[in-house]
Amino acid sequence: MAMDTKILSATDDGISHAAALLRQGGLVAFPTETVYGLGADATNGQAVAGIYEAKGRPSFNPLIVHLSDAGMARNHVDWPDAAEILATAFWPGPLTMVLPLRNQQNLSPLVTAGLNSVALRVPMHPAARRLLAEFGGPVAAPSANPSGRISATTANHVMAGLNGRIAAVLDDGPCSVGLESTIVGLTGPDPVVLRAGGLPQEAIEAALGRPVQTAQGSEIIAPGQLASHYAPDAAVRLNAGKARGDEVLLGFGPMQCDLNLSASGDLSEAAANLFGHLHQLNSTRRPIAVAPVPMQGLGRAINDRLQRAAAPR
Ligand code: TXA
Ligand code: MG
Repeated sequence: MAMDTKILSATDDGISHAAALLRQGGLVAFPTETVYGLGADATNGQAVAGIYEAKGRPSFNPLIVHLSDAGMARNHVDWPDAAEILATAFWPGPLTMVLPLRNQQNLSPLVTAGLNSVALRVPMHPAARRLLAEFGGPVAAPSANPSGRISATTANHVMAGLNGRIAAVLDDGPCSVGLESTIVGLTGPDPVVLRAGGLPQEAIEAALGRPVQTAQGSEIIAPGQLASHYAPDAAVRLNAGKARGDEVLLGFGPMQCDLNLSASGDLSEAAANLFGHLHQLNSTRRPIAVAPVPMQGLGRAINDRLQRAAAPR
């Protein structure tokens, strides 16, 4: 059903309006430092169902619950020592923790897609924090893009994918990190990185004082990590030295190209530019060639997203 999607600014009025829409069970896209999220009241099953519907998302894919502060986490989950260490070090920020669900909690089972764990995050973006504080409860939010497509790092990207399908978008400019949060699983004996993201694995290992395993691509543990994801319309070719035929070239480091993730080879800058540049090259409708990006720090998450964008579909 098409509706009139409001564009709200991050003023006191805009934030109260967005919180009121969430309370009414509406869908509100909002900025976080990683990417824009598509928010709904996580305790309202109908509102959460609306997220899956608006995104056209497979319903087995569980959602991240956003909280205004770490203290709220204990209402929903068991809290191992590693969670305390990581929350102290990295919340608010681009870290999501998957933790065992408590018996008594009020999240809609649709949020967890029936799992006995839930993914929690306290974002750092000021507009997100104000919205979460004003709403006062848990907000379920996947990235604010149609399922399988490039994530949104501006309100324009959100509107391009979801206009007419959601109540509003809170516009507060581009996202500073530009990659989704790093997801750490804390449901077993050892912490496991389930998805590389905006917080480098090295930082997590330093905080915990030990190496952590990665479980990337394991669809059992992180069901949303489908091989083909973040997909532009045209084909994507990785590790390209230069463009062939009709291709447009996405560069990294000093080189000739159509758009450069970071001409100086800075991985933070590249992360912040990744989805915006993919959106822009996608709008040319030409196949996209991508220069190699080193596999260290944020480069791990950048390569993960690029591989999914290039995967056969
Ligand atoms: O930066 C982000 O993380 C953004 C912003 C909006 O917070 N959100 C985001 O959400 O990227 P989404 O829905 O696009 O990705 C969530 C990922 C999926 O891969 C999903 O399978 C995984 O989190 N996930 C959620 N709950 C889980 C659980 N209980 N166990 C394992 N994986 C889970
Ligand atoms: Mg996503």
